[in-house]
Amino acid sequence: MAEQVVADLRERCATPVSLLRDVAVEMADEMRAGLEKEGGSRVKMLLSYVDKLPTGREEGLFYGLDLGGTNFRVLKVQLGGNDQRIANRESRAVAIPPHLMSGSSSELFGFIASELAKFVADENKGNSFSSGKKRELGFTFSFPVRQHSIASGTLVKWTKAFCIEDAVGEDVVVKLQTAMKKQGVDIHVAALINDAVGTLAGARYYDEDVIAGVIFGTGTNAAYVEKANAIPKWEGDLPESGDMVINMEWGNFYSCHLPVTEYDQALDKESLNPGEQIYEKLTSGMYLGEIVRRVLLKLSVQTAIFGEIDHTKLKTHFHLRTPHTSAMHHDETPDLKIVEEKLEETLGISGTSLETRKMVVEIIDIIARRAARLAAAGLAGILKKLGRDGSIDKRRSVLVIDGGLFEHYAKFSKCLETTLSELVGEELSKSVVVKHADEGPGIGAALIAASHSQYRNVEGN
Ligand code: GLC
Repeated sequence: MAEQVVADLRERCATPVSLLRDVAVEMADEMRAGLEKEGGSRVKMLLSYVDKLPTGREEGLFYGLDLGGTNFRVLKVQLGGNDQRIANRESRAVAIPPHLMSGSSSELFGFIASELAKFVADENKGNSFSSGKKRELGFTFSFPVRQHSIASGTLVKWTKAFCIEDAVGEDVVVKLQTAMKKQGVDIHVAALINDAVGTLAGARYYDEDVIAGVIFGTGTNAAYVEKANAIPKWEGDLPESGDMVINMEWGNFYSCHLPVTEYDQALDKESLNPGEQIYEKLTSGMYLGEIVRRVLLKLSVQTAIFGEIDHTKLKTHFHLRTPHTSAMHHDETPDLKIVEEKLEETLGISGTSLETRKMVVEIIDIIARRAARLAAAGLAGILKKLGRDGSIDKRRSVLVIDGGLFEHYAKFSKCLETTLSELVGEELSKSVVVKHADEGPGIGAALIAASHSQYRNVEGN
């Protein structure tokens, strides 16, 4: 009986190469449709107004703010130009109190601005930075935003664990700038960017072959460099560089080929954003542990695989988190001691047999592999759209990935990389490079603030 549940899961989550190829083709098609016209695809293909990426020559002192996951980060970088690159950096991560993720926008932005104020005050204590120059900041805001310029944009909708109704449709830079003013922070927001865009920028700073920045963390997304004349919906003058970075918002991708199970359907239905972000719900860190929890609950209720247990924890949404399932997945002890500990610690399940623990690991493996393989198909979709799948352009193509899932879940990242090689083929797998981001998106935002700075010539930062 329990074996049957697992066998069904394995079958429903199967991702043969033929299916992944279909997904890649559909991703590329959706990209084209999203570029064609506003609302042309579920994949929004948002214009970032970033038309020049960092070159390494940027100079001056810049701040960054990074909001989008469970933590937010404040940072400061001293850019030293070609020779020194990042001459100095300071940063501070702060956990976002969960109640602020669903409160009011003034509470959230007030909190961010007050943390920024503290950071600036601490950093300025008796040192050289209070030179009276107007400072600038790059704001990484990792949600779908319809931008009107490099430093303005309205929130389209919340994703992941955030849900603050009064912010939807509002300009998030105005909100931030107002909150900063209340805190007496005199810093100009020079750039508003998505974390995928920040990852791309941070990587381009060191390597000009980088074509895309991708996030596999709490959520998932990708940004890449598009030719401005390949964006029919772009109405402004063509930028001097001829390029425009596109924030894909691919988390909202959907195709009937996606192997969606009853567990995913239930998760989606009970989520903060039903019917949306389906690709994200299959492939990102916020959800993988939750999918596994749902499978374990069914197994326990239907087959009593864990014996007579109290189901309270196993029934609690998001109680089993991806870092827990990752720890179990990487358990190399012969009798799966870590699995035993985690089951007890997180779900209050004890006294399991080795057989049962092996089954738990198999379930985790099925869900994580499906995620990693679908993730690789997304990347193959970008390569296809750009003709870098071996069809047209054979230059070195670097895809830079950031996010906790990619960074800390080795089996996920390994599987993503091998699947991508499988999809692009042996010959091309030499020129397609997947790299973990050297810099977080916050640095990328500060770099974009620098390359789009209004004050750099005035003050000679
Ligand atoms: C979600 C957000 C997107 C962000 C991604 C990764 O998909 O909508 O803007 O880039 O998470 O943080």
